[in-house]
Amino acid sequence: MQLNIYKDYDTLSLNAAAEIIELVKIKPDAVLCLAAGDTPRLTYTLMAEKAKEEKIDFTHCTFIGLDEWVDIPPENEGSCHYFLQNNIFKPLNISPEQIHLFNAMSSDLVHECEAMDKIILAKEGIDLMLVGVGMNGHIGFNEPGVSIDNYSHVINLDHVSQSVGQKYFKQATTLKQGITLGLKHLLEARKVLLIANGIKKAEVIRKALEEKINKDMPASIIRMHPQGMVMIDEEAASLLKK
Ligand code: F6R
Repeated sequence: MQLNIYKDYDTLSLNAAAEIIELVKIKPDAVLCLAAGDTPRLTYTLMAEKAKEEKIDFTHCTFIGLDEWVDIPPENEGSCHYFLQNNIFKPLNISPEQIHLFNAMSSDLVHECEAMDKIILAKEGIDLMLVGVGMNGHIGFNEPGVSIDNYSHVINLDHVSQSVGQKYFKQATTLKQGITLGLKHLLEARKVLLIANGIKKAEVIRKALEEKINKDMPASIIRMHPQGMVMIDEEAASLLKK
């Protein structure tokens, strides 16, 4: 695992965007799994700008959804679906055939998980995953305590995810479960970028990078990935000892 510390959020986002662009230049049919959330918002804006400037074609890429809130429809602006649609798919002109997201409204979520795992297998795995980290150390919706052997699964959200998640919604919303790729997908992806910024992420980054690798801190699993890259700003790095 590699650790890169950038002076601020803008520089971090610029570098994360460049990582994705460089991959797509080398591999135009790359399989990408990109998180929703506040952290990668600027990365995607800069990525779309750069793609336009440099005429980088994303129309042969495949996009795999990392996660979704169960029972939240795609038209709800707090959904991951809505976020990805507006921050990535629309700006890059991605067509529906290129996109594979969980249907978190399905009455058969087990089938949704199996179908997603099959798609990833059929695509011969994920080339690049870009993930954020939750205040409880979750990655996607791999909540504290989750097995590292899981592929796609449905999970009960812990109280931190339920309350922090409110920030994405206009009104108070019941968030009980998530559907998510598993940590096994993360470990099997050819490259993983974990990004975090701001002082509020400093403690979770310290725990993830300096305490023992353990499933109660899912973000610590990134240290088991030979091509894992942790990209953080100085504020998020401010509690690291080394
Ligand atoms: C979103 C996701 C979550 C977020 C995490 C950090 O698709 O998978 O794990 O990455 O909760 O969220 P922000 O970036 O809003 O702090």
